[in-house]
Amino acid sequence: MSVESEPGVVEGLDHWRTLPAVQQPAWSDRAALAAVSDELAIQPPLVFAGEADVLRGRLAAAGRGEAFVLQGGDCAETFADATANQIRNKIKTVLQMAVVLTYGASLPVVKLGRMAGQYAKPRSTDDETRDGVTLPAYRGDIINGHEFTLEARTPDPHRLLKAYHTSASTLNLIRAFTTGGFADLRLVHEWNRGFLANPAYSRYETMAGEIDRAIRFMGAAGGDFDSLRTVEFFSSHEALLLDYERPLTRIDSRTGLPYDCSAHFVWIGERTRQLDGAHVDFLSRVQNPIGIKLGPAATADETLALMERLNPTGIEGRLTLITRMGAGTVRDALPALVQEVVAEGGPVTWVCDPMHGNTFSSPSGYKTRRFDDVLDEVRGFFEVHRDLGTHPGGIHIELTGDDVTEVMGGSEEIDDAGLARRYETRVDPRLNHQQSLELAFQVAEMLKRS
Ligand code: TRP
Ligand code: MN
Repeated sequence: MSVESEPGVVEGLDHWRTLPAVQQPAWSDRAALAAVSDELAIQPPLVFAGEADVLRGRLAAAGRGEAFVLQGGDCAETFADATANQIRNKIKTVLQMAVVLTYGASLPVVKLGRMAGQYAKPRSTDDETRDGVTLPAYRGDIINGHEFTLEARTPDPHRLLKAYHTSASTLNLIRAFTTGGFADLRLVHEWNRGFLANPAYSRYETMAGEIDRAIRFMGAAGGDFDSLRTVEFFSSHEALLLDYERPLTRIDSRTGLPYDCSAHFVWIGERTRQLDGAHVDFLSRVQNPIGIKLGPAATADETLALMERLNPTGIEGRLTLITRMGAGTVRDALPALVQEVVAEGGPVTWVCDPMHGNTFSSPSGYKTRRFDDVLDEVRGFFEVHRDLGTHPGGIHIELTGDDVTEVMGGSEEIDDAGLARRYETRVDPRLNHQQSLELAFQVAEMLKRS
């Protein structure tokens, strides 16, 4: 892998600059942006091309029904929250969910953090007005600060470098935690037993007991494999800010092809997936496995057109379609889409995002979701794929490892008044640690039956 970005080596890598790019900040200091871009371009890549290739293979397996994807992490990571404790809690949560899902699915679980780079957010309006004062909207820590002052809200290119370094230290900790003994299956299972000590979760004891016996059986049978002690853990984020993704794109020396080395997997959001837009063009030219978010208004025709643009040769594992339909809509909107895409398009991996179609404002004014809606969308996703004979390839969850109160419901029954207790998210509400584990047990039940 070459260390430096080589502009012009691969034709077209900068073509996006001539196309409409929505959801980009209005940088005021173009000279500073250019300097930052040059500096980013000489930083070491955050991930290697070979790792992205491995992930592509894993996602291909999920597309064939031979693995299950668990993609999870914050809606928006912040620099302030990139602490050892918060990163550890998030990894811990994903690992705990993964053990349960591995058991439920009897399949390998592909662990994909929405982590180490998830710093840019699309917004519905460019500005925000409070008490007669209008300032640029918060677009994520990679662009501006959340504080409602002109200084904080002015897009600052230097934040791109901060995002790079924060991603690097987050990834470093992820790599340490997932290979250094912390991810040992037996240890993770012990954490799950700790979670189940709370009587609120007694309904999951039967399955935990089964997992327990399975682990004891492996021990008795002499299974002391390396694979029980380490996990593969991949990084992902929305490839929204092209001024960041482009300088981190490198030419792989083995193949001579470009990879976006800011993460193993990047996705295109529902708001930036215009067929003639900058995001689709740029991502059509990198080799990473990529995702496309699809909401209830997505048509089969536009999805097929995107597949043709982004995966013309039908490489397995290249494309993951992440559907976010809403609990009330998934059973109506998903079947036709899946049917036509499968009939006419190349291979794809279907993943359910049960978060973004289920957001509403609570009576007391918090942006929230209901745990039961999240669960119901996953259930609908499984039903649709079961009926069509296609594979439900995984789930995409907004979660945190901490005990926040942002999503209503779950066995601890967070209600509207309870949201005020610990509502910390800057953007969308996240499942807390307990709600995430509870979701994993419920989804594992669905997997056992499917
Ligand atoms: N290496 C296997 C895997 O990643 C088994 C494993 C070890 C595991 N530690 C884990 C699975 C923690 C889930 C969570 O699947
Ligand atoms: Mn979100």
